[in-house]
Amino acid sequence: MSILVFAIETSCDETSVAILDDKRKILSHITVNQEDHNKFGGVVPEIASRAHLQILQNIIPQSFKEAKLSINDIDIFCATCGPGLIGGLLVGSTIAKSMAIGSDKPFYPINHLEGHLLSPAFSTSMNFPNLTLLLTGGHTQIYLIKSIGEYKLLGETVDDAIGESFDKVGKLIGLGYPGGPLVEKLAIVGNSEVYELPHPLEFKKNFNFSFSGIKTAVSLLVKNQKEMNNKIKNNIAASFQKKIIEILIKKTDLVLKNLRKQQYNIKDIAIVGGVAANKSIKKSLESFSQINGYRLISPPLELCGDNAAIIAWTCVQHHQAKIKPNLDFKANPRLTIIN
Ligand code: KG4
Ligand code: ZN
Repeated sequence: MSILVFAIETSCDETSVAILDDKRKILSHITVNQEDHNKFGGVVPEIASRAHLQILQNIIPQSFKEAKLSINDIDIFCATCGPGLIGGLLVGSTIAKSMAIGSDKPFYPINHLEGHLLSPAFSTSMNFPNLTLLLTGGHTQIYLIKSIGEYKLLGETVDDAIGESFDKVGKLIGLGYPGGPLVEKLAIVGNSEVYELPHPLEFKKNFNFSFSGIKTAVSLLVKNQKEMNNKIKNNIAASFQKKIIEILIKKTDLVLKNLRKQQYNIKDIAIVGGVAANKSIKKSLESFSQINGYRLISPPLELCGDNAAIIAWTCVQHHQAKIKPNLDFKANPRLTIIN
């Protein structure tokens, strides 16, 4: 008899619910991207919380209808409890907790980052230890994952997150929000050799990233243009993306060399999070991995961004690992998973 999990994800500006079984079969999955923020060029927390509440009222009944299930068929409830915007976390976790209380079933608090880290399981079976690049709008981190539940943070950004830098560059060249996918589109037709952008921390022997200097360089570049046209925008996007790829590959290479020295036998390199949807980044890391004898893994495109299916799957892992449910867990905007 399979176990059914109901999950809610509301940590930022995607409102998502999913019903999943313990074999990873998705019985229903609805994700609504809140468009109310586009005109502000970034996520407005107060608007996000209100929108989560409104949207959940519609998509929760819809998800049960699609799965042809009722609330009493669900064995476990879970929700993202951090990190993220506290208003959204409170809305999602309170609703999932209420559903668990009302149907007398357990509630599991889930860490959003762990959801991303385990998301390649939807594409392939994951080998451990692996090296994972977590690339989102709020985080840029490198993890050594020894097994499910054992996450070692090796490096992270000291300023902007990678997705944030895509969004800021998008804004600088007059694109909408989120800029990431739009910058990728322009980069395809641009010439990446036109502008040389800086590589902060290039010669530092640690595994941290820094992206704010690149954004500042793009900002100066834009200011120095007499007139912005599409060709310049395309070339800026392509030059920016090329630099980002170069940084990711150099850091990954440095980390791998270090892990090899420590006798770690890394099997897979994984990229996860919203920025893992970027095809050029994925292709470049794929060829780097191939050349160096690794396998690059990532979630399916539709599960790279924020969604409840990856939260439900993490919940299944917790349940199978006999981690105790926890109805009293308090949503925490700065929740970490480092052990
Ligand atoms: O993981 P995610 O959906 O949310 C967070 O947890 O932050 O990541 C969102 C970020 C945004 O900054 C967005 O611009 C970026 O991922 N992103 C991309 C692409 N698709 C989404 N960045 C570059 N290229 C893309 N194709
Ligand atoms: Zn995320």
